[in-house]
Amino acid sequence: MASSPTIPITPAPTHLTCNWTGSAVKAESTLHQLSPYIGKLKSSIAGSLIAQFTDEDDVIYDPFSGSGTVALEAWVAGRNIVANDLSPYAALLTRAKLFPYTSLKAAARDIENLAPEAEKARQAVDLRSVPAWVREFFHPETLRETLGWTLTLRERRRWFLLASLLGILHHQRPGFLSFPSSHTVPYLRKKAFPPAEFPELYAYRSLRDRLDAKVKRAFRRVPELNRSLVRNCFAKSAHSFTPKQKVDAIITSPPYMRQLDYARDNRLRLWFLGVADSRALDGEISPRKDAFLKLMGQCFKKWKTILSPEKYCILVVGDGSSEVEAANLPALISGIATKAGYTHVLDHTEAIPNERRVRRGLTGSTSETILVLRNGRDHATSLSHA
Ligand SMILES: C[S@@+](CC[C@H](N)C(=O)[O-])C[C@H]1O[C@@H](n2cnc3c(N)ncnc32)[C@H](O)[C@@H]1O
Repeated sequence: MASSPTIPITPAPTHLTCNWTGSAVKAESTLHQLSPYIGKLKSSIAGSLIAQFTDEDDVIYDPFSGSGTVALEAWVAGRNIVANDLSPYAALLTRAKLFPYTSLKAAARDIENLAPEAEKARQAVDLRSVPAWVREFFHPETLRETLGWTLTLRERRRWFLLASLLGILHHQRPGFLSFPSSHTVPYLRKKAFPPAEFPELYAYRSLRDRLDAKVKRAFRRVPELNRSLVRNCFAKSAHSFTPKQKVDAIITSPPYMRQLDYARDNRLRLWFLGVADSRALDGEISPRKDAFLKLMGQCFKKWKTILSPEKYCILVVGDGSSEVEAANLPALISGIATKAGYTHVLDHTEAIPNERRVRRGLTGSTSETILVLRNGRDHATSLSHA
């Protein structure tokens, strides 16, 4: 009897060694801190998953890359990276992190060279074309400068500088461009800082010195990076996008069934990227339960053709949500994956420290689960069914 060819199987890991506690902010590359993003993965968790499930020179694919945490950690660890995210803001941040300037000096020189063009664009700005809700956030002259620079940086495809500019767009601190506002999600803080009491916070804020300072902060801690590794970022829907090469691992965190509104919460930054209707974008990137489960089914099918056999698909998922309290999200996803021909290898759940919750009063996720799936049916199961 002819024996069937055997595929070598990497021994399945039995546990995860992720670093969940404490902040990663003081140790991680400052490139991670270009601009805030809701639902951002902790860089130390991304780093330990990459170290545990992949080898140097492997190709890692993150189909829902968000702010590019997995992408940057993969590059830092000497892996090739294909990233993708349907949100233009997320794709911008990922590109910025994958294609930074070679030095602070090179970035500063480019800002200097672009300044005349940004000034010309500023002079052409007609604020009457800006919606009232956007104008509310800025002194008119600051807004004119911000528009001049964003138009120039978009035109010239300077993703790193554009991401840096969006990173200083709104906050209550002096190094930012808006009137006092929250940082991650844009809400004006006029009650906490009444204009009559704090007139200096509502005065003109010049852009150039703030952008220079921001770029300087971004370069404070940049590790050695191998620029010959593959780095790609696309802005497609994950269910239809096919990377050109086979990948050795998928490491990603999918959208959490409308627990977070990725477009609404980034509406001001998205407006500067040309997205006028963040609600319409949320229809695509913040799916509700049924749409989300359908998306995952389509993705698992697509990923079977991309991920090498017996390699891992690692998903970081929120655990339950306010919309579907009874639903166990990791179990639902695992069920869909198993049907599509993956093996559930392990899952690991931890409480999210309070510091990581982005919205006060969010009744949703209090924990995160890492789900490890292998591309292939369980050997024992397939033998017993033979
Ligand atoms: C949990 S976030 C990813 C966060 C990321 N790991 C980080 O550290 O920033 C999920 C992402 O999925 C993206 N997304 C939602 N639906 C998508 C789709 N159909 N195709 C591609 N990206 C999508 C959202 O824009 C969002 O950035």
